[in-house]
Amino acid sequence: MEIVEQPELMQDLADRLRREGKQIGLVPTMGALHDGHLSLMRRCRSENDTSVMSLFVNPLQFNQKSDLAAYPRDLEGDLKKAEAAGVDLVFAPTEQAMYPEGFQTFVTVEELTRRWEGEFRPGHFRGVATVVAKLCTIVKPHRAYFGQKDYQQALVVERMVRDLYLDVEIVVMPIVRDPDGLALSSRNVNLSIEERKAALSLHRSLAFAEERVRAGERDAKAIVEGMRRIIEREPLARVDYIACCHPETLEPLDRIGGRVLFTLAVWIGKTRLIDNALIPR
Ligand code: PAJ
Repeated sequence: MEIVEQPELMQDLADRLRREGKQIGLVPTMGALHDGHLSLMRRCRSENDTSVMSLFVNPLQFNQKSDLAAYPRDLEGDLKKAEAAGVDLVFAPTEQAMYPEGFQTFVTVEELTRRWEGEFRPGHFRGVATVVAKLCTIVKPHRAYFGQKDYQQALVVERMVRDLYLDVEIVVMPIVRDPDGLALSSRNVNLSIEERKAALSLHRSLAFAEERVRAGERDAKAIVEGMRRIIEREPLARVDYIACCHPETLEPLDRIGGRVLFTLAVWIGKTRLIDNALIPR
């Protein structure tokens, strides 16, 4: 497995691979890899000749310096996991290489970023869209892989790709969970045993929503209220938002007609967790 730091070198390699007729797949990550990331890598490996993982803790998408500083890092462990998952090449640029002095070009996706994560994390999606656009022009992938875990992020990336005619196919993969239902996240390592127990309320509330929709409930607000009660039973939990919305526009819904997205963000102690469910699946 090759490790490349320089964007120029990565572009040269990508050009060469493309000239040789190789299909390139990209899995963008911020490291602290878990099985959710690895599921994207395995899919990437199965659909491409060369699998590239990018590893870059993107300062532009963190709205708080403390969150950036606290972000878990484990380069050595990550490289081992990536290699075992069949990654051929790791693109791990420095902050200086991605945002050199004088850098001043950003990508903003507008409507889709107004609500939910966009509202609670101002500037977050501008950071995500900008870095993903750059990763695509540097790595030149035919396909790029994202997780449904960050549902709004995947929609934002798909919109950006369409709007800018970026020549890449976006593949979105299902949420990988622990056996008890907790969605895997790099941030889970920061949870104490007690907090981890409280964090299970996120999945419990989504399972409740699914059960209600299946039973024929069409009142979205009633379901969201039920979800809130489940989470607020946990003294360690503090809700940022819980919503039932249209799976493409992310606009909140009152009545459930077709497919809907339940999405939520909840603080458990000092750790902010997100989760979601598309219903029916
Ligand atoms: P990161 O949080 O490292 O996640 C990298 C990718 O793994 C994302 O597409 C995310 O949705 C996916 N992922 C995370 N947890 C998952 C899970 N439990 N199941 C399935 N997929 C999961 O998301 C980012 O990094 C960054 O914003 C990035 C896209 C790299 C841009 O900086």
